[in-house]
Amino acid sequence: MAGGHQLGFRSMDRELPPVQLPVEGKFPSWLAGALLRIGPAKFEAGSHEYRHWFDGLAMLHRFGFADGVVTYTNRFLDSPAYRAARDTGKITYSEFATDPCRSLFKRVATAFVPPTFGNNANVNIVRSGDEFLALTETPLPVKFAPQTLDTLGVAQPAPGQLTVAHPHHAPGSGDLVSYATHFGPRTTYQVYAQDGGGRPRVIARLPVRLPAYMHSFAITERYLVLAEFPFVVLPVAIPLSGRPFIANYRWRPRRGTRFHVLDLSTGSRRGTCQGEPFFAFHHVNAYEHGNEIILDACAYDDAGIVDALYLDRLRSEDARLPQAQLRRYRIPLGGGDVTREPLPGIALELPRIDYGRRNGRHYRYAYGIGSQDGGFPDRITKADLEDGTSASWSEPGAYPGEPIFARAPDTEQEDAGVLLSVVLDRTVGTSFLLALDATDLSEIGRARVPHHIPFGFHGNYFPQPW
Ligand code: CO
Repeated sequence: MAGGHQLGFRSMDRELPPVQLPVEGKFPSWLAGALLRIGPAKFEAGSHEYRHWFDGLAMLHRFGFADGVVTYTNRFLDSPAYRAARDTGKITYSEFATDPCRSLFKRVATAFVPPTFGNNANVNIVRSGDEFLALTETPLPVKFAPQTLDTLGVAQPAPGQLTVAHPHHAPGSGDLVSYATHFGPRTTYQVYAQDGGGRPRVIARLPVRLPAYMHSFAITERYLVLAEFPFVVLPVAIPLSGRPFIANYRWRPRRGTRFHVLDLSTGSRRGTCQGEPFFAFHHVNAYEHGNEIILDACAYDDAGIVDALYLDRLRSEDARLPQAQLRRYRIPLGGGDVTREPLPGIALELPRIDYGRRNGRHYRYAYGIGSQDGGFPDRITKADLEDGTSASWSEPGAYPGEPIFARAPDTEQEDAGVLLSVVLDRTVGTSFLLALDATDLSEIGRARVPHHIPFGFHGNYFPQPW
């Protein structure tokens, strides 16, 4: 069914104090804590429109769970970008694909001073020690209160101008590990680690001439893998190009994809292996297997997906998106090229796993969203990587978001738990929180929100106690 998803790209300004949601079915009583999500909710400032899905102003959403009762509240993230948009009706800070209107003189002037950031952290939420952080790809995470959603200020900056909203908890230490691109006369990828709220410690520096746009990376028990897609930029070109940030990147498939493997404990480079050209926003998981690393990603043939996510294209009636396919790559630790393992074609984006137990380790199940016919994603899919099968949940007029796995207590079974997904229901014009049994994707319950929630990106379930 084409169309109908456009409501998910319409602004929603309403901020609700905590309300109890009407529930159909039953949310399990062991769900206790909160699902915290973030995503863009406002796509214009005054009469000025943001251009890309990744540019919209961040809103936090909190679904609280206690004894089967579901509550909901939402707040805009109180960032400089949000305040400027609200108070001046103008776009003041550069976003992923939207620049403020600036004279050429101002543009040249700002090329020679450190950039200022709007901190519109609309991509993901993580916990670091006692801090709850909203993240985007600029280097300042934003702290917020997980109960009230009050914005609390900025946290320790990443060591570079561009980072990722998908840090990992190292499987061994639990430290938060991430990387940042430090642009300069000698641009480097800086891999860093951080224990609860502490200053980032750079553990490896990789010089790079043409840095790639990498939205996430992979981690195993011993290694970190940067899959350097051939979607690259000449750093000196960025400030003077007159183009928004992402429009400076170019697809150079002849470079292939370079997989840099770094030892997490020493920061030394174990090797760099060459693989086929592809692009991905999201890694699914990775793990060591004998003398190789297995790396799973939601892969595209090229970086065309970045352009497909401009709002004018997404809002068109028959929006079609390049489909990410679940792909498995084998990285040989003893040298040689990376090979792709043939897998059945399973369309999967916004992937999730049983992160708490399987991150960086052998696993069997991945969950995500997809579409069967290349239209806008309209189903939740579970992939079984052992036997190559998949199963889906869908419903006419329903557009689900990232399905977050919350594991059931007292069991080691990998898929025992629920999937929590915010679903846009175009038949009613509102959204609901859906809970599926992760074993067979049968519906357990749904809790309806009184308004629509624009399509967001990521979030996490944080069980009590905090
Ligand atoms: Co992401």
